[in-house]
Order: sequence, then C-alpha cells, then structure tokens
Amino acid sequence: MSKNKIEELREKRAEAQLGGGAKGIDAQHKRGKLTARERIDLLLDQGTFEEMDIFVRHQCRDFGIDKQRYYTDGVVTGTGKIEGRPVCVFSQDFTILGGSLSEAYARKITKIMDLAMKNGLPVIGINDSGGARIQEGVLSLAGYADIFLRNTLASGVVPQISAVVGPCAGGAVYSPAITDFIFMVDKISHMFITGPNVIKAVTNEDVTFDELGGAMAHATKSGVSHFTCENEADCFIKIRKLVTYLPSNNMEIAPVYDYEHPEPDLEELNNYVPDNPNKPYDMKELINKIIDPDSFFEIHKEYAENIIVGFARIQGRTIGIVANQPLVLAGVLDLNSSIKGARFVRFCDAFNIPLLVLEDVPGFLPGTDQEWRGVIRHGAKLLYAFCEATVPKITVIIRKAYGGAYDVMNSKHVRGDVNLAWPSAEIAVMGAKGAAEIIFKKDIVNAEDKQAVLDEKISEFTNKFANPYIAAERGFIDDVIEPKDTRKKLIYYFDLIQNKVDYNPRRKHGNIPL
Ligand code: HXC
Repeated sequence: MSKNKIEELREKRAEAQLGGGAKGIDAQHKRGKLTARERIDLLLDQGTFEEMDIFVRHQCRDFGIDKQRYYTDGVVTGTGKIEGRPVCVFSQDFTILGGSLSEAYARKITKIMDLAMKNGLPVIGINDSGGARIQEGVLSLAGYADIFLRNTLASGVVPQISAVVGPCAGGAVYSPAITDFIFMVDKISHMFITGPNVIKAVTNEDVTFDELGGAMAHATKSGVSHFTCENEADCFIKIRKLVTYLPSNNMEIAPVYDYEHPEPDLEELNNYVPDNPNKPYDMKELINKIIDPDSFFEIHKEYAENIIVGFARIQGRTIGIVANQPLVLAGVLDLNSSIKGARFVRFCDAFNIPLLVLEDVPGFLPGTDQEWRGVIRHGAKLLYAFCEATVPKITVIIRKAYGGAYDVMNSKHVRGDVNLAWPSAEIAVMGAKGAAEIIFKKDIVNAEDKQAVLDEKISEFTNKFANPYIAAERGFIDDVIEPKDTRKKLIYYFDLIQNKVDYNPRRKHGNIPL
C-alpha cells in the first residue's frame, strides 16, 4: 500500500481525535471538565480502548450545520477492558456542538449497545451533552427513543452504568435514569427536565443549577444519583471499582477474587448490641467487621440513610447487603428507604448476586406525611422485591424485627433460605411499650398507680416476646447464633447455597406496585 494512504488514514484519525478542535478542548478544560477521550483513558485499563465509528459524520444540511461535519459527530464509542474484563463504552464529546445528540450520533450509541447485548457486556455511558441536536429536530428525538428502548431491553441483561459529567437536560435524563447506576460529580454534573430559566418563567421560582439538579441534590433529595464524586478522577475510579463486584451479564456470576487471610477473632461481637433496646449503634461498623476487610462498596450513601445498601465480599465472593441503620431514625422503614432497598434487591436478583439482610427495624414510620405520600405502595415495593428474588438470601436478625418489617426483610416466609438470629433479637408485632398500652389498656386505666402497671406489663411482654426463641420454636428462625460466629456462619451458608435453584411462575412479568 502506498505511504500516502497510510498517512491519509493517520491524518483523518488525528483530526477525529481532536474532536471539536483545540479551542473546544481548551474551553472544555476551562469549564473544569475533561474531554471525552481523557475520560475514557481514566475509565479503562491502559491501552485497551478500541474505537468504533470514528469516521461517522452527520448528514444534516439545515441551519448551516453542513459546515460543521466533525468526525465522530460528538460521541466517542468503542470497547475496552476494566481489570481485564471487556466493557462497551460511549463518551459524549461536548467540544462538538455541545455534545448534542443527532441521528448519526444516536446510531453510534445504539450500535455499541447492541454489541453489548449480543455479547453480554456491561455498558458504561459518559454523559455530557446539550441534549437533542436542535438542528436535526425529530431525527434527534427518534435517536433518543432508540436509545431508551435499548436501555429498557438491556435492563436486567447487562449492567448499565451512567456517569453524568456535564449538563444532562430535557428528555436526555431518561436514558441514565433507566440504567442501573448513576454517578455524578460535584459542581460539574447537572440533571433536570427543565433548567432554572424555564422554572423562573413558569413558576417564578428562583433556583440555581446546583440546587436544582446538582450532584448533592440528586444524592440526598431525589435519589436519582447513586454516587457523588469529588471530581472526575474519583468518578472513574469508583466506576472501575463497581464493575469488579458485578457479573458481565445475567447468565454469569460476579468474579470471585482470591481470599487468603486469617479469619478475625470476633469475640467482641458478643457484647456489641447495647442492653438498652433504644440505644443505637452503627450498623456500618458491624458490616465491616463481618465482611472481607475493606470490601464494602456502599450505594446511595447519602439517600435514605436509615437503610444501608451496597456490595461486599465474603471470602472473595460478591454479596449484596441490605441493612437497617439504627443510627438514623432508629432504622425505621419509610417511603424512601423502601424504594432504595427494593431497587437494590432487584438489581442483585437480576444479576445473580446473593443477598445478606442485617435486620434491626422497629417497623414502618407512622404519620400522615408517610401515609399520604404512599408508604403503603412504596413499602410494598420492598416486600415485593424480597418475595420475588430467587437468588440465595440470608437474614441475620440483630435486634428488632417488629411488625410488617419482620415479614418484609427477607423473612423465612418470603423464601429466605437461611434465617439466623442473635440472642438479642426481638421478634414481635410491635415494641413492648406500644403493645402493653394496647392490650392492657383497661388494666392500666383502672389501676391506681398507672405507671407501675404499665411498667409491669411492659416487662411481662418483653419477657415473653422480646427474644428469638418463639420464632425459633416454629422454625421461622433456623438457628440462634452467638454473634462472634456470624462471619463463620455466613461463609458456611453462602457456600452451601451458592447453586440454589428457585423459580417464579411463568408469566409475562409481575406488576410491582410502582
Ligand atoms: C445544538 C447545541 C445544543 C443543542 C448546545 N449546543 N446545546 N447545539 N443542539 N441542543 C452548542 C451551542 O450552540 C454551542 O455551540 C456549544 O454547543 C456549547 O454550548 P454553550 O451554550 O456555549 O455552552 P454552555 O454555556 O456550557 O451551556 C451548555 C448548555 C446550553 C447548558 C447545555 O448550551 C444549553 O442550554 N443548551 C440547550 C439545552 C437544551 O435545551 N437542549 C434540548 C433539550 S430537549 P458553539 O458553536 O457556539 O460553540 C431534549 C429532548 C430530548 O434534549 C428528547 C428525549 C425524549
């Protein structure tokens, strides 16, 4: 082949790799953002990126856009590896027409998604875009719809991860929203349906970009985002870490890592739970004691902190943890924590990740606010999610398992495979005081010393029900264990049930109460 043809290829490639050009790259850096290619470099194992469709250009002729036909058309797509495992990736390039989405651009994304689906590979989308390319009108809207369809069809088949590292406005937010995990970066990420200017015009409300749709707003208020990152480097380190916990598709199990450490002495756990049932303790600290060291990877950390969800490893194998947090609202279940828990349980179930439930829950949060906002409907999501999950499921009741929450949190009755309890477990319809006030109401009202009778009845109720043995007598609890043996039992049982097979009835799909 002539030297000229090779040179021509190299020149075209070099031009394409400049995206919107040096000026655009400079402007991108001035905005405090990395370029599409710098992001891919941070995401993937060094030197593993293989680009596709680098020479794609749009075919639009309207509004003078035919003078701006950049190679790649504003999105870099391809494949590469994370910790040696292949993934598909697209990275939107803000330096080309603000990363706006055209027909050709959408085709590049759907092509890479189809490749991911057919070959069982995770898809990681890096979003930084002004949304639909205005000059292309309905072609751009159609492109979005093609992506939304694939996001939906890929859901539960391959993991889908979104990094939002720039603006993400209008309908464009709905592609990340359908994916499994959203990462946002403080200060540079924004997601909203309509921006501050439109809001001001329509509702006269003053709100900044950050307040409306910044990383913290979506981490703490809306729950749209799962991870808040300090900067872009932190974001891509976190995505790489997340991928290590996940299988590449729903037909595989997550990678198992070598684990050769001496088993810890957990004698201290026998005195871990405070004697006073109303005194809180930190469930995260407990989690970290019983899993492989430093393996906890928390999701939705800043949202509904009364429940904790995240991945961890037990002797090198991935598990998903759902745990009540007594430090926040006494670990009560409410609307947001139910949704957070349900979403995580369903992800684990879809991707063959065994579940561990650590339970200390005083019930569902009462009150008009919760009732009117639909705690019945949303609480039912968590119940539904645990009921339908067929992955290996272990529960350890640490302290309170009150009321409906006992049923919900992977009880034996909803197909918990192994249900263990610490001796500190209290399994009852409700707390002792509330129960005594209801069932001994007459005795208390008629007593001369009401407080004395109430105290006596509380103590009677506590002695009878505030323990795990009535449930254990019925086999609802498989064993009451010494807390110091918890890790040992988890290692044993997760190994025992790793090949569990269970089914749900054949149907098109269930109807989870949305
Ligand atoms: C075409 C666009 C564009 C768009 C930005 N640009 N958005 N070109 N279509 N949607 C271009 C700009 O003209 C500019 O080109 C360059 O990208 C950089 O944009 P700036 O405005 O200079 O950047 P910045 O100040 O950082 O502001 C970024 C922005 C803003 C907040 C994203 O550009 C903006 O508000 N854009 C429009 C957002 C929007 O309303 N999108 C449509 C949403 S509706 P030059 O040549 O000057 O450098 C939607 C429907 C989805 O997306 C449908 C799914 C159901």
